[in-house]
Amino acid sequence: MQSNSWVPLFPEQASSFAWQVDYLYFYLILVSVAFSIPIVLAIFYFFVKYREKEKYATPDEIHGSIMLETVWSIIPFVVSMTIFLGGAIIFYNQTRVPAESMEIYVVGKQWMWKFQHGTGQREINELHVPVNRKIKLTMTTEDVLHDVYIPAFRTKADVVPGRYTTLWFEATKPGKYHLYCAEYCGLNHSGMGGWVYVLPQDEFDNWLAGGGSNQTPVEAGRELFTNKLGCASCHAGGESQRGAKLEGIFGTDIKLTTGQTVKADEEYIRNSILNPTSQIVEGYQPIMPTFKGQVTEEQLVALVAYIKSLSGNTGNTSSTSTTPTSTSSSSNSTMTNTANRAGNTNSGLSSNPNAPGRSPEPTNRNR
Ligand code: CUA
Repeated sequence: MQSNSWVPLFPEQASSFAWQVDYLYFYLILVSVAFSIPIVLAIFYFFVKYREKEKYATPDEIHGSIMLETVWSIIPFVVSMTIFLGGAIIFYNQTRVPAESMEIYVVGKQWMWKFQHGTGQREINELHVPVNRKIKLTMTTEDVLHDVYIPAFRTKADVVPGRYTTLWFEATKPGKYHLYCAEYCGLNHSGMGGWVYVLPQDEFDNWLAGGGSNQTPVEAGRELFTNKLGCASCHAGGESQRGAKLEGIFGTDIKLTTGQTVKADEEYIRNSILNPTSQIVEGYQPIMPTFKGQVTEEQLVALVAYIKSLSGNTGNTSSTSTTPTSTSSSSNSTMTNTANRAGNTNSGLSSNPNAPGRSPEPTNRNR
């Protein structure tokens, strides 16, 4: 690792909030030192001053001092509140992802990191990002708990099975920085790492252009949606629409049959695919089968990206412009055919007993 950091023991400060974390950290050290040194000195001073000069001498009684007690209450109060305030500010900075961030999907797996850019480029254990650009990582894992840790960016977040977590950063210096897994995840945990390459924007564009013709997550999601999984047979607009409307829903509040309102975020979409009957949208029937066990985490990420794109959210400011709505609603009849095939395959695979919506579905389809 490069080591031209401002303190030789520390990793480089290479993100927009690295200095904040360091300042807070040094403030904590300063406070510790400022209390420890006087205490240790006082101990030695009292050793000498109050050593036993004559046997069984009774010392003078000490009565309370309002002044002293006020001071030793106020000083620790102020010190602890400044620590709290510093921590809270940094916490909010790091957890509230700016809306204009460029989104990159991350899937952890024993023992590797898989990244996918909005343009479709995939990377393993390497992540290329442009400098001075806000980057959002949307992360999940195929197996156990992992944790993305990039010391030079002073950022770190758990990657949790069954849900999406996010992390954002803005790299401020081109370079190569270590990426670690910071949660013990089995035999090769220590080897589960890689590098983040921070490139100037033009070099990044070159790198991105040189990646071959990968499907973007949105395209992959659209293919799963319209063909492989047959989601479109129910969710595409038009006469045969039985599933909840998906266009424009991302980020909005959804009213459920229970009267509850939920926000349509990544988590909600993922849950609706895997546990469809747990959150039924008002005005719809619980007829959707679960897709648990039939889609991988990477496919889920693609579906989420596609459904986000239906709301004009590409999570990326690069040149990929996709207008998937037209594709999904135009050729409805062919889609239903494909979906019927997919539906048959689904019921053949139906190993999950908790799929209450499965049985009425084929009859509905053939109506
Ligand atoms: Cu993955 Cu430790």
